[in-house]
Amino acid sequence: MQHFVKSAKKILLRNRKNGFTLPTNNKLYPAQWNWDSGFVALGYSHFKIKYALEEIKTLIRGQWKDGMIPHILFHDLNTNYYPNHTAWACGNKIYSSGITQPPILAIIIKLILDRKRINNKNKVELKKIVKGIFRYHKWFIRFRDPNNSGLVSILHPWESGYDNSPLWDEPMKKIKIPKNLKYKRRDNKVVNPDYRPLDIDYDKYVTIKNHLKKNNYNPKKLYKTSLFNVVDVGFNSIFLRANKDLLKLLKIFNLESTEIENYIQRSENEIIKLYNHKKNIFINLDLKNKKKIEIPSVTHYFILFANLKDKIFNNRIIKNLKNHNSKEKFLLSTIKSNHKKFEEKRYWRGPVWINCNWIIYQGLKNKDIKFAKQIKKKTIDLVKQKGFNEYYSCKTGEGFGASNFSWTASLFLDLVLENKNEKL
Ligand code: DGY
Repeated sequence: MQHFVKSAKKILLRNRKNGFTLPTNNKLYPAQWNWDSGFVALGYSHFKIKYALEEIKTLIRGQWKDGMIPHILFHDLNTNYYPNHTAWACGNKIYSSGITQPPILAIIIKLILDRKRINNKNKVELKKIVKGIFRYHKWFIRFRDPNNSGLVSILHPWESGYDNSPLWDEPMKKIKIPKNLKYKRRDNKVVNPDYRPLDIDYDKYVTIKNHLKKNNYNPKKLYKTSLFNVVDVGFNSIFLRANKDLLKLLKIFNLESTEIENYIQRSENEIIKLYNHKKNIFINLDLKNKKKIEIPSVTHYFILFANLKDKIFNNRIIKNLKNHNSKEKFLLSTIKSNHKKFEEKRYWRGPVWINCNWIIYQGLKNKDIKFAKQIKKKTIDLVKQKGFNEYYSCKTGEGFGASNFSWTASLFLDLVLENKNEKL
C-alpha cells in the first residue's frame, strides 16, 4: 500500500503549479477547477497542510464581487483550452469562467478541521476562508433560489460537474444552436472523442455560455432568462451538506449563522419532495421547460451525503443503491448500467468516477457501515489495479480520459489514510 500512497502524493505534487493544482498533467484541463481543488486540498491535508490551504485560498482569490466562486480560474493564459479566458471574458482579479461548480469547500474545510490537522496560526487564515465560503453560499441562496424555495438551480450543465450526464438530455434538446456558431473544440484532440461529450452537446454548452456572456453574467436576470435552469438532486444534496458543515464552521468562528440555519431547514423539507415514492426514483426539475427528469443517476445518491434526519427514508435509498450496480464488477457506474442511456466509456454517461464513490461512501459511513466498507474497498482496489485515471469502465475496470488524475489520487489518499494519524 505504501507504494500506492507514494504514487498518489507524487501525482498531486507533479500537477501542482504556483498555489494551485491542475486536474491532470496532460493538456486536457490546463487551469484550476473549483471542485477539483476542493478534493485536492483534502488529499494534501494528509501530508502538506500548507498546500491544502493554499489551494483553497487561491480559489477564493478568484471569487467574484457578488460572491460567486467560478468553476474555472485561468492562471495561465497561454493554453490550448476552449472555452478559454477570452471566450468567457470575465473574472475578478483572476480571469475566470462565468459559472460555478458543486460547492464542496465548506465540507472539505470541516473535514480537515475535524481531523485536527490545523494549528492556531492556520486558524486565522481559516477564518478568512470561512468568510469567503459564507459569501459564496449567500450568493447561491440569493441568486440561484430567488424565491427562497430551499432548492438552488444550475444554469449550465457544466455547473453540475457531470457535464454530459443523460440528466441534461431533455433540457438540452430544447436549446437551438445558432447557424453562425463558431468555435474550435480542443478536448477531443487530447482524449479519444469516444470518451468525451458529443459535438452537438458542445455546441449547446457554447450556446448557453454565449447567452450568459451576452447578459454580462448578471445573476439576477439570468435565473429567469438562462437557456438552461435545472434543480438537480445531487447538486442540492451537496449544497445541503455544505450548508450543514458551514453552519458548524460559522459557530466555531463566532459568525452570524441564522440565515444558513433557516435555509437548511427549508432544504431538508424540500429535497425529499423530489423523490417519487411510487416509482422509487428521484426526479430533477427542469424549471426552464416545466418538466420532470427521471434518469437513474448515481448522483441522486449524494442525498446520503446530505445526512437527512429521516432514517426510514435513508434506508430506502440505501436499498435502491444496492440495486444500482448489482451485476457489475466495478462500482459505481454514473448511470444504472441496464438503462437505455448508459454508455460504458463516455465521460459522465456510464463510467465509474472516484469522486462519486467517495461522496457516497462518506454518506453511507454513518448509516450502513458494512456496505460503506464494501464501496471503499472496491474503490481502493480499482485504483490499485488500473491506476489513477479520470474514470473507469464498470464492466472491465479499464481507465479512460486523463491519467495521473489529481482528484483520483487525492481521494484515494483520503480513503486509505482517513483513520491514520499520520504525522504532517
Ligand atoms: C471540460 O472542459 O470538459 C470541463 O469538464 C468543463 O468544466
